[in-house]
Amino acid sequence: MQNTKIDDDHSGNNDYIKKEDICNKLSIFENNQKMSCRLSKSLGVAPMLDVTTQHFLQLCRIISPNFLLYTEMIHCNAIIHHANDLSQLLGPPFPDTVIQLGGSDPEAMSQAAVILARNGWRDININIGCPSSKVQHNNFGAILMKSPDLVARIVTAMAEVNQHDDISPITISVKCRVGVDDIDSYEQLYHFISTVSKTNFVNHFIIHARKCWLKGLSPAQNRTIPKLDYERVYRLANDFPNLLFTINGGIDNIDKVVEQLEKVDGVMIGRKDFYGIPPKPDLEIINEYIDYLSAHLASLTASKLSTLSLSILLKPIFMIFSGSKGKCFRRHLQLNIIKYRKSNSFESNFDNDNINNYTLKLVDDIRSFVKQSISDAELEHENKKNQSQ
Ligand SMILES: Cc1cc2nc3c(=O)[nH]c(=O)nc-3n(C[C@H](O)[C@H](O)[C@H](O)COP(=O)(O)O)c2cc1C
Repeated sequence: MQNTKIDDDHSGNNDYIKKEDICNKLSIFENNQKMSCRLSKSLGVAPMLDVTTQHFLQLCRIISPNFLLYTEMIHCNAIIHHANDLSQLLGPPFPDTVIQLGGSDPEAMSQAAVILARNGWRDININIGCPSSKVQHNNFGAILMKSPDLVARIVTAMAEVNQHDDISPITISVKCRVGVDDIDSYEQLYHFISTVSKTNFVNHFIIHARKCWLKGLSPAQNRTIPKLDYERVYRLANDFPNLLFTINGGIDNIDKVVEQLEKVDGVMIGRKDFYGIPPKPDLEIINEYIDYLSAHLASLTASKLSTLSLSILLKPIFMIFSGSKGKCFRRHLQLNIIKYRKSNSFESNFDNDNINNYTLKLVDDIRSFVKQSISDAELEHENKKNQSQ
């Protein structure tokens, strides 16, 4: 069974944003967005490994057309390796989606940028904020904050793609921290931004407003233990009025989004992403998402279908319901996926004639066990509520 673990950060704590709250505020946000914007979309969904997959991003599009979406980080070598079948790796390119690249070799990053551009990807973000030991061991992610000159060389090499007459131009942005290890003074951050922006190839920085420690803290701890320092991001925005700054870290309700947009150009939200933001009913979102799955499944080859992970396909809707109902839903859906997999072998031999029937039946079955999971969750949630009264 592949990857049924749902990240703790998405596990349905009770403090999620309340839907009514967001819906009331959404109009303020939209007005504000129209007023402020130097970025075409000022609310971004953060890149998150194993979360912001192509399927998750599709769910975001169903929820609202207002988000700027970031893929999970992909190493430049993976792009090079999949140069001839990129859509298998990433899905199709979308104009609302920025692809996040990891890597530190200017030549390889440049090659990846060319491949992405040739395949229709227009916006590339470089990850300079990931502190995981594997990533730092390979000399990319947050450790690159210590080498602004190398980052400038990477950016310059990537921007060469814009000299090809036969490729549409790309934009390059950088996502970094406010500091790393003892490179954590404002002057050092200023020097980093100044060095990278002086290339004239990056004018948008997404700043996770926490420093990170490369040793001693796990990636999850590096997202909670170092203190948030929004002031430092505002100071950058003030000192570099010609650059665009998106702020990230701990922004978990729409009031905070609106407040931040007074001071910076964009807000990026990760762990709280869009809980409750949808102005659409949850069921409508789920049904539209299953319609998308239906089209996606119909595009797969028999060999892809035989290795399909239902958990990966359905993971995005695990987070539709929040609070205690969300917890019940996630548990029931997970159990129903396991039950379904046990009673329906994915290793069956397909031939091209029965693929269509197979996928139609699969989609019907998904619809029915998702519906079942919702009603089981509602029942359990009601029972729990009654018991606690
Ligand atoms: C599960 C998970 C995976 C993440 N993966 C990435 C990643 O691939 N690239 C990246 O730049 N940041 C990654 N992050 C960091 C987020 O993009 C974001 O900077 C961080 O969660 C802080 O924002 P938040 O407080 O709104 O969650 C990840 C965060 C989480 C929770």
